[in-house]
Amino acid sequence: MTKDEIRRNYETRMTKQPIRHPGPIRHSGFGFLSSFSIRISSFLWASSLVIQRLVQIRLTGALRELGITILALHLGVALFGAASSEARAAELYREPYRPQLHFTPGRNWMNDPNGMVFYDGEYHLFYQSNPFADKWGHMSWGHAVSSDLVHWEHLPLALSEEDGVMIFSGCAVVDRNNTSGFGRNGRPPLVAIYTGHYTSRPLQNEHIAYSTDRGRTWTKYSGNPVLDIGEKDFRDPKVFWHEPTGRWVMAVAWPTQRKVRFYASPNLKNWTHLSDFGPAGSTQGIWECPDLFPLRVEGKMKQTKWVLIVNVGSGAPAGGSGCQYFVGDFDGKQFNVDHILIADAPSRPASEAALWADFGPDFYAAVSWNDLPKRDGRRIWIGWMSNWTYANDVPTAPWRGAMSIPRELALRETAGGFGLLQKPVRELKQLRGPLHQFNGGAIEEANAWLERNTIRSGPLELIFELESVSDGNEGVKLFKGAQEETVVGVDRKQGRVYVDRRRSGNVTFHPKFSGVQDAPLPACDRRVKLHIFVDACSLEVFVNDGERVFTDLTFPSEHSRGVEFFGPKEGAKISSLKVWSLNSSWKNP
Ligand code: FRU
Repeated sequence: MTKDEIRRNYETRMTKQPIRHPGPIRHSGFGFLSSFSIRISSFLWASSLVIQRLVQIRLTGALRELGITILALHLGVALFGAASSEARAAELYREPYRPQLHFTPGRNWMNDPNGMVFYDGEYHLFYQSNPFADKWGHMSWGHAVSSDLVHWEHLPLALSEEDGVMIFSGCAVVDRNNTSGFGRNGRPPLVAIYTGHYTSRPLQNEHIAYSTDRGRTWTKYSGNPVLDIGEKDFRDPKVFWHEPTGRWVMAVAWPTQRKVRFYASPNLKNWTHLSDFGPAGSTQGIWECPDLFPLRVEGKMKQTKWVLIVNVGSGAPAGGSGCQYFVGDFDGKQFNVDHILIADAPSRPASEAALWADFGPDFYAAVSWNDLPKRDGRRIWIGWMSNWTYANDVPTAPWRGAMSIPRELALRETAGGFGLLQKPVRELKQLRGPLHQFNGGAIEEANAWLERNTIRSGPLELIFELESVSDGNEGVKLFKGAQEETVVGVDRKQGRVYVDRRRSGNVTFHPKFSGVQDAPLPACDRRVKLHIFVDACSLEVFVNDGERVFTDLTFPSEHSRGVEFFGPKEGAKISSLKVWSLNSSWKNP
């Protein structure tokens, strides 16, 4: 694809209005009527949107005098909906392909994770949402909270498209010192910093909104935008408090320039340009959704380096969109990269040398949580588990879009420099069912053991080591059926790890979905450790403690549930195999 084609595709995405515009939703002031949890059915969900819309009419339209009558009607509709919702509630979150470990909206479209912040015991997860349809459009911020990163409660839309301004990606911070002045009664406000995308003219700029009730309701700042350089593409601010300089720092993407710009502010309202980073690393695709944070170096209590995350709209190793990163230092003004390391995808030209967070096709717009307590000390992120190449066509209903599992980040120092390590957050362990353990043996023995223990693909976690004395090709086949399989393999001769989803099930919904993705095998002796999470329509593979990661969507047919190891008959061994089937994270789906 030429750059022009890529650009055109992107512009189609940015301007396409796939459905009739239903008009803005305003916070009704009757939020309690429309608040719901995931256990309430789709019917109630839809009626709550209707209620919001009708209440808006009541407040603004000619029907003002009939307000009370209409309100009574709304209550009737909601109560009727609640009663008849019982049966449907049992179905929601049990649909084919519905992820059980991963966050998904009850219905409709979702892309990037936004505004992730920890406040008052809650992890907030906002996300790019189209509240009206299952394709991209009318971007607004959906919202959910969790006390453990695993069980999520859905909350009403936090920020809605309004007056021709869509709510694009961004972040949220706890303004502890009330620098913004939005705080009330000595309690710090939550402040969201996001991109306003104008639908009637080519402009994007940065806006803020605040909440003084633990993120339950949001007010857009009357002085918006707070940062405007008059550009058509200028988006996805990520803001954090920079302790040494005592001010806010923003990393924001200038996509077409392949640059991340840094700004500083004393109060989140006035921003001063500090410096730019880029172009560097992978520059084929536009740059989006940056993040910048200090990160621990594995095994060194005191050493940290700064990591700059840059998501790229196309040109990632598995094709389409992906997530690259840079390691270096940040002095409060400027990010200096250590050096651009060897290309991780050997077939790519040196000019495209980049470090990739994930070698699967389905990990994008990944950014990290702000404001985790210091005593926790972790840096945790998630990504959107899809790819712009086919995101609008993925065969799921009534929702489209899922998040990856939350992952804890660290850096590992290797001969080639610092590399990102990702591991599933420990909170996921609570979903484990009983442990099945195999103490090691040849491939055939391991397969007989799997059979005896009726290990099936579905929500499942596997940890094992592949040990081999040969240069063979070995691994595991998941979602195996008569005609189907998704293969996770290690090809020692070629020095690569791979995921092959060519025969994974429904691969025809988009011509670019099928394929094999690979990554260079990390330096290791004869053992390769694989940690795999299998959900209803995905795999996440962590190789050697997350030195390489693959995130892959997969849509097997209902009967393809087998798990089977493969490899050379002689000299290959599966050792320390642990398997857990996983419970659903939706408490009473
Ligand atoms: C990344 C992205 C962001 C933008 C948002 C719009 O996937 O393109 O750059 O803010 O999606 O939904």
